[in-house]
Amino acid sequence: MDWGMKNRLSQIIKPETGHTVMLAVDHGYFLGPTSKLEDAQKTIEPLLPYADALMLTRGILRSSVDPESAVPVVLRVSGGTSIIGKDLSNEEITTSMEEAVRLNAAAVALSIFVGTDYERQTLVNLSSLVDRGMEYGIPVLAVTAVGKELGKRDVRFLSLSCRIAAELGASFVKTYYCDEFEKVVEGCPVPVVIAGGPKLETELDALKLANDAIQKGATGVDMGRNIWQSKFPVPMIKSVRAVVHEKASPEEALEIFKKSKSET
Ligand code: R5P
Repeated sequence: MDWGMKNRLSQIIKPETGHTVMLAVDHGYFLGPTSKLEDAQKTIEPLLPYADALMLTRGILRSSVDPESAVPVVLRVSGGTSIIGKDLSNEEITTSMEEAVRLNAAAVALSIFVGTDYERQTLVNLSSLVDRGMEYGIPVLAVTAVGKELGKRDVRFLSLSCRIAAELGASFVKTYYCDEFEKVVEGCPVPVVIAGGPKLETELDALKLANDAIQKGATGVDMGRNIWQSKFPVPMIKSVRAVVHEKASPEEALEIFKKSKSET
């Protein structure tokens, strides 16, 4: 791997543990002002010291993040659809590689929609983005989107999507946790991080999800709602870090959550 590419990836995936806790705050690119992200700056700022990377669009980066922040940026560069539009899968590349360079991105992220009418378009876009990234030493994170069909989150579908993303040159892949998740990881030659998905009922549920993913080979999490929709976001991200970086059990991490909560 080229030096620049390797250096950027190691800003995100911490060499000390080989893992990462990415904070996803890109939801507005198709969901609009998602609950607790209405004022993105207010939500993001207290979490920044605990995030290994921040995944977001250029709009929220410029408007809501201090440029003096040292947190590496994973810039979402795909979009063009909305939750109320005709087809969520019809995404295109919305931000150029030059813009990613201007914003000092450590990586760029694009969703692929395997099995939809826009499968070919989004996969070819991934390939083009990888080519552009190669020119600048910028890694590409492929997000295996499921559109509105959450039911598609099974091991066969996610293994297929992750493997295709890696074959087309993605440096790392973001997907969902599923039963037999280890097979998704085994079939994917690049690091896999998981999304948290919609807010789970309890903090312990989210910590168990992170733990299961790490135990089955995930490199980390790229979590959003289960962190910043918690009533206690900072204690939550601290406890997720304990699971991902320190191999804490979900129960041990919950104690960290409770202790941190009591100090706020
Ligand atoms: C992915 O495509 C989304 O834009 C979010 O980045 C992703 O779903 C991660 O956030 P959450 O943990 O809330 O699912």
